[in-house]
Amino acid sequence: MNKILVSVILALVLVLGINRIADVIYSVEKPEKSAYQVASVTDESSSSTETNSESVDVDKDIMVLFASVNLSDGEKTFKKCAACHSIAKGGKNKIGPALYNVLNRQAGSLSDYKYSKGMIAYAKKWTPQEMDGFLENPKGWVKGTKMSYAGLKNPKERAAVILYMNNNSDNPLSLK
Ligand code: HEC
Repeated sequence: MNKILVSVILALVLVLGINRIADVIYSVEKPEKSAYQVASVTDESSSSTETNSESVDVDKDIMVLFASVNLSDGEKTFKKCAACHSIAKGGKNKIGPALYNVLNRQAGSLSDYKYSKGMIAYAKKWTPQEMDGFLENPKGWVKGTKMSYAGLKNPKERAAVILYMNNNSDNPLSLK
């Protein structure tokens, strides 16, 4: 049973990893046809060293963006989330789970909120990178999530709202 779970998670990690590499290739080379993108992915995945360096680049991106955004931008962006989420300390679950302390928390881990099976199975830590991917495309990032939100397409808005959520925490990460 455990072995099956582990292989499912590994497979998920692999698929997500390849998706993110595809994103990098896509943004670096800006191919005009998506067919080209698919070809590149196949090339990249055959070389593990390149794969590693690519994903490091992705991770750096969001960290670099924190320098150019501020908390009040993040507070404004959070208005898009506030219909479904509280962010203040001691805030209640609404349609979505309470988000105080959410950075570095395990996904789907509040005991008093009824998560989707998809979010519970996901179970990763909400690192800035994970949060960035999820907020860009919630349903694409966490299969089966019940968060009905199209996503924040602007990377700076994502960085700002992550900064703001991180600030609403007993143990904020150092992001700047
Ligand atoms: C329409 C309501 C809605 C909106 C708008 C919304 N969310 Fe959510 N969110 C949810 C629901 C519902 C869940 C639970 C998902 C699940 O269990 O699959 C969730 C889950 C989450 C989680 C996972 C929390 C955990 O405990 O693992 C994060 C992080 C999150 N949302 C952030 C945001 C942010 C940031 C925004 C705004 C940019 C936002 N959400 C907008 C409904 C919403």
